Amino acid sequence: MGEGDIATVELLKGELDERRREAGQRERQLERYASDLRETFKAERARGEQLRASYVATVRALVNAVEARDAYTGAHADRVAAYGLELTWLIDPRLAADPQTEFGFLLHDVGKVALPDGILHKPGRLGPEERRLVRRHPEIGCEIVGGTGFLTDAAQIVRYHHEQWDGNGYPDGLAGDKIPLAARIFAVADTLDAMTTDRPYRPGASLAEARAEIRVLAGTQFDPDIIDRLDEIPDARLGQLREGV
Ligand SMILES: [Fe+2]
Repeated sequence: MGEGDIATVELLKGELDERRREAGQRERQLERYASDLRETFKAERARGEQLRASYVATVRALVNAVEARDAYTGAHADRVAAYGLELTWLIDPRLAADPQTEFGFLLHDVGKVALPDGILHKPGRLGPEERRLVRRHPEIGCEIVGGTGFLTDAAQIVRYHHEQWDGNGYPDGLAGDKIPLAARIFAVADTLDAMTTDRPYRPGASLAEARAEIRVLAGTQFDPDIIDRLDEIPDARLGQLREGV
């Protein structure tokens, strides 16, 4: 090997070292970017969780506002939300995964805060004017929940939770699939809980009795497909949901 060749080899070695140094620097830089990204992602996730927690706290505060006046409603809201979500997971998992669905279920009767005690706690039958006031609670609730600005879908459940499949419900008399699916599901869960819960004037029905009574109302009060799906949930599971398991 001549002197020229040695010089060329040294030069190449030098260049190679330089490339290695550059590659090392690039690798370290990439590692820094990756670590920055991980940190940003973690911070974003923490912020998302905080935001969700504040939604839940807001919803809880609203539910408590109703519960404070009507002890039955608070526990009822939790049970109906549990039944409703179980059904929604069977029927439309994407709808079930949307937190607004649960919020709407929990808040369905929030509009009752506007009712005077004399009507809310009246033991006997309501007169026509009192009934008219009670029937306004879905619209009032929708305004309260919709007014938060971030619970638009939940507000729709609140508004339509007393609509009926045959169009004989209120406030808008919507029929069939014009009623939002979550509100149709809610109506079934609501009735299931109302039938199976003890009241001062009557004991609650068994699950079998409630299922039979609800089945009779398929196609008039309720979406028949949802009643079919309810039959897929065993009594034992409904019992667990009732106890909050
Ligand atoms: Fe209601």
